[in-house]
This record gives sequence, C-alpha cells and structure tokens, in this order.
Amino acid sequence: MFKKLATGAAFALALIPAASFAAGGGDQHIEDFDFSFEGPFGAYDQNQLQRGLQIYTEVCSACHGMKLVPLRTLGDPGGVGLPDDQVRAYAADTFTVYDPELDDDRPAKPTDHFPGSALENAPDLSLMAKARAGFHGPYGLGINQLVKGMGGAEYIASLLTGYTGEEKEEAGTTYYENTAFPGGWIAMAPPLSDEQVEFIDGHANDVHHMSEDVSAFLMWAAEPKMMARKQAGFAGVIFLAILSVLLYLTNKRLWAPHKGKKAS
Ligand code: HEC
Repeated sequence: MFKKLATGAAFALALIPAASFAAGGGDQHIEDFDFSFEGPFGAYDQNQLQRGLQIYTEVCSACHGMKLVPLRTLGDPGGVGLPDDQVRAYAADTFTVYDPELDDDRPAKPTDHFPGSALENAPDLSLMAKARAGFHGPYGLGINQLVKGMGGAEYIASLLTGYTGEEKEEAGTTYYENTAFPGGWIAMAPPLSDEQVEFIDGHANDVHHMSEDVSAFLMWAAEPKMMARKQAGFAGVIFLAILSVLLYLTNKRLWAPHKGKKAS
C-alpha cells in the first residue's frame, strides 16, 4: 500500500515541471513590482488608477476593449473614484455607442459599458489581470502569488516593460521579442514610449511608471471589489478568532466536572 502511494506521489511530482512548461512558465521573466493593493491591508491608489485610466484611454483603447466593465463603475469608491459629473463627461466625450432604438450612434452614458476591442486580434482586457494571475513563478506553480503577492498586474507590467527591441517577421506578421510573454515573441508592438502621456499633476511618465499605472488600473477593472473582499476577509478572521476563544472556554467549562475524576 505504502509503496503504491509513494510511487503515485513520485509520479505526480515528476509531472509538475512538465505541466508547467506546457503552461509556458519556465521561460518567462516576471518582475516583482510593489503595488499598493498587495497584502492583506493593501488598497488601490486612487491617483494611480486615474492615471491608468488615462493611459488606457489614450493608448490601449485604440486596440483593446473592456466590454465587461460598466462605465459607471469609474465612480465607485475604493476604485478610480471619479465624481459623477466626471464619469458622465468621460463617457460622453470618449466613446460613442450604437443605439438600436435610435438606429444611430450616440455619445456613451455611464450605464453603457466600455466598448469591445477595436482590433480583432487584440484580446479584451476586462479580466486580463485575473486571467494571467497564475502560472508564473518558479516552474509556473503560481507560488510567487502566494509568497510575494505577484499576480496578473505584475505580469502585465512585466509585459509592457519586457520588450528587448528585437523583432522578426513570420508569415506577414511582425513579432516583437518580449521576456514576459510565454514563448518570447508577441504580436503587439511596444505600446508605450517615454513621455507619451502627459498627466495634469506632472507625474512621472516614463515607460516603467506608466506600465505600473495601467497595470494597476487593469487589476481594478478585473477585480473592482478587492477592497471590500479584503475587509470582509479580515472581519471574518477576527470573528473566527473570537469564536475560537469562546469555544475553548466553553469546552473547558463543560468538561471541568469530569476532569480529575478517575474513570469508574
Ligand atoms: C496597436 C494595437 C495595440 C495597442 C495600442 C495595444 N495593444 Fe495590447 N495587444 C495587441 C495585440 C494584437 C495583442 C495580441 C498579441 C499576441 O497574442 O501575440 C495584444 C495583447 C495584449 C495583452 C495580452 C498578452 C497575453 O498574455 O496574451 C495585454 C495584457 C496587452 N496587450 C496589454 C496592452 C496594454 C496595457 C496596452 C496599452 C498600454 C496595449 N496592450 C496596447 C495590440 C495592441
């Protein structure tokens, strides 16, 4: 029996590296960025999310959509946190949507969603930060997510900063070498360049900082309720801790009359 279990376990362990290479874990380099929302008490940095929204709008939205994200959530507290009038203005000034009732295009309203991707082979970014959360780290085990809090935001930031400058053409498509992308060659040209986006507060706008900002924004898009989840989790832990103490005391008290007596 034991022998069977042991061979089974050895076999399973032997499979792990093979499986992770299949997931593209081995050859990727993901940098560990320090995001404000990491750790049990981490929270989104509202200014950072607003810069990220600006970068997404001015650069990424030319190709990528975010069709699962309602525009009105830009006003939610704990996230981008725009005032209502700014959400309305942003929606109306930035996007037009097709309205079947009017049979025409009209400016977007907060009740509309971000549009879908404008470029067919550019994936929708609504959930990208969650979709790419695991499968990297040593042997693609996702261990880094547990130990260092590295997730999808790190992956996206590493992708945007991971271009080596090399490119090649295959079957009419240009591929760009990238140290974070599984396989090493991506069909997206480096989207960011230094000083491409100007922030009103004059915040640093080199590729590194902008990559961080837009990745934080995409993390928010994929998980807008992260703060609420952490708070509920923390309240849960405190509640369970108090409950454990009470149960321990109750247990002691219940058994007190029987302790110290000899079993008949
Ligand atoms: C000119 C069009 C274009 C622009 C602008 C652009 N992208 Fe892309 N992006 C693409 C294409 C095309 C792909 C698919 C590449 C592939 O699969 O090889 C892609 C893929 C991606 C991926 C997915 C990588 C993966 O793991 O599959 C992410 C994340 C991404 N882009 C983020 C961004 C961000 C953030 C911006 C803005 C800073 C941006 N992109 C701007 C065209 C674009």
